[in-house]
Amino acid sequence: MSSETSTLTVDNKPVDLAVKEGTIGPSVIDISKLYGQTGMFTYDPGFTSTASCESKITYIDGDKGVLLYRGYPIEQLAEHGDFLETCYLLLYGELPTAAQKADFDYRVTRHTMVHDQMNRFFTGFRRDAHPMAIMVACVGALSAFYHDSTDISDPHQRMVASMRMIAKMPTLAAMAYKYHVGQPFVYPQNDLDYTSNFLRMCFAVPAEEYKVNPVLSRALDRIFILHADHEQNASTSTVRLAGSSGANPFACIAAGIACLWGPAHGGANEAALKMLEEIGTPDRIPEYIAKAKDKNDPFRLMGFGHRVYKNYDPRARIMQKTTHEVLNELGIKDDPLLDVAVELEQIALKDEYFVEKKLYPNIDFYSGITLKAMGFPTSMFTVLFALARTVGWIAQWSEMIEDPSQRIGRPRQLYVGEPQRDYVTVAQRG
Ligand code: ACO
Repeated sequence: MSSETSTLTVDNKPVDLAVKEGTIGPSVIDISKLYGQTGMFTYDPGFTSTASCESKITYIDGDKGVLLYRGYPIEQLAEHGDFLETCYLLLYGELPTAAQKADFDYRVTRHTMVHDQMNRFFTGFRRDAHPMAIMVACVGALSAFYHDSTDISDPHQRMVASMRMIAKMPTLAAMAYKYHVGQPFVYPQNDLDYTSNFLRMCFAVPAEEYKVNPVLSRALDRIFILHADHEQNASTSTVRLAGSSGANPFACIAAGIACLWGPAHGGANEAALKMLEEIGTPDRIPEYIAKAKDKNDPFRLMGFGHRVYKNYDPRARIMQKTTHEVLNELGIKDDPLLDVAVELEQIALKDEYFVEKKLYPNIDFYSGITLKAMGFPTSMFTVLFALARTVGWIAQWSEMIEDPSQRIGRPRQLYVGEPQRDYVTVAQRG
């Protein structure tokens, strides 16, 4: 922390504001006392210039295209690590020793089953329910099933709730999928690793033996690593805000899932694939580029642009490589969607509009093609994102709960409505 201050002039009077320095990245001006000193709030819709908390978990340098989990570059974690190791890292701050990793994997594996009553909960949904709708409901409902881990003041209960969610999210996600396709639920199998178990719960059927393809399992595991955390994005901020009131962790994560669902956030991978399908063939790309640039057309190039990355999203590069690996493994030589994606990317990266606005492909641009090739329907894409992001939400939520300076999140506003006026009875209203 620095003793530096910055001075703001309000009504011709100087107001000294402390400047806080992080370990890397931009410093922040501490405005927490500004209202007391000046009677004014700050105004920052969409929080483009506002840091809402201190955090030690994830760092992004959007200009350079850097993403670090607890200081480790995403490229190294994706290449050498596995998802549960990343979970441990995000939750506890350090990479696990071999013994810690074995213990963590064991604990997660032993929590994968859900309460049997959950099966009945599922049958209340229509078969055509969007799996994200099911996830919001079922994760929120976990608080009705696991009363013994909802006391947020008890560190042990917080830990149990965290393990439960990381472990049960794949089971719930697979159940949502199975319910949707009308197949029986497949129970978790403890001798499989986290991601292989998830693939099996999604794609195995009782009628035949299912063999997990290790290449696909590794690719999906890497996709989970890429999605595990992303500092104070919309859904994480939602989780923190929900948690700031003392709500139980299951309810907070359900709030995060709801936020993630939107097409500007996690729903973009679904939207990106739909867009590629709509474009259909490379010759139609210029038409869609023109639509994206047209101010009067609401169409945006899905999977392009990011609030923080003003350079290539580092996750997008790894995702692109993973896409090729998966298609190769599955023997898909000519995927028309991939052709459209590759060409669209090339055209957009050279187009003045996208260059000037620093709009690069984000992680969602290629993820849809990969997940589709693996056999997931588009409606499951955001569910997979939620599954992976759960650990990030939990790590951020825990950090907030353990922060002694934590207070309920309560933004202020610039009121632009009617000033005070007197009530008029119906008979007197003209
Ligand atoms: N296609 C066309 N134009 C775009 C796009 C796009 N995908 N993204 C941004 N722009 C333009 C905007 O119209 C705006 O133009 P203007 O300055 O002339 O008004 C400018 O670029 C800046 O865009 P903003 O919307 O102000 O940027 P913001 O940071 O608010 O939005 C967002 C970021 C939501 C990701 C946006 O780029 C977008 O909608 N992209 C498509 C959806 C998407 O891919 N979302 C996934 C994000 S990654 C994730 O959640 C995992």
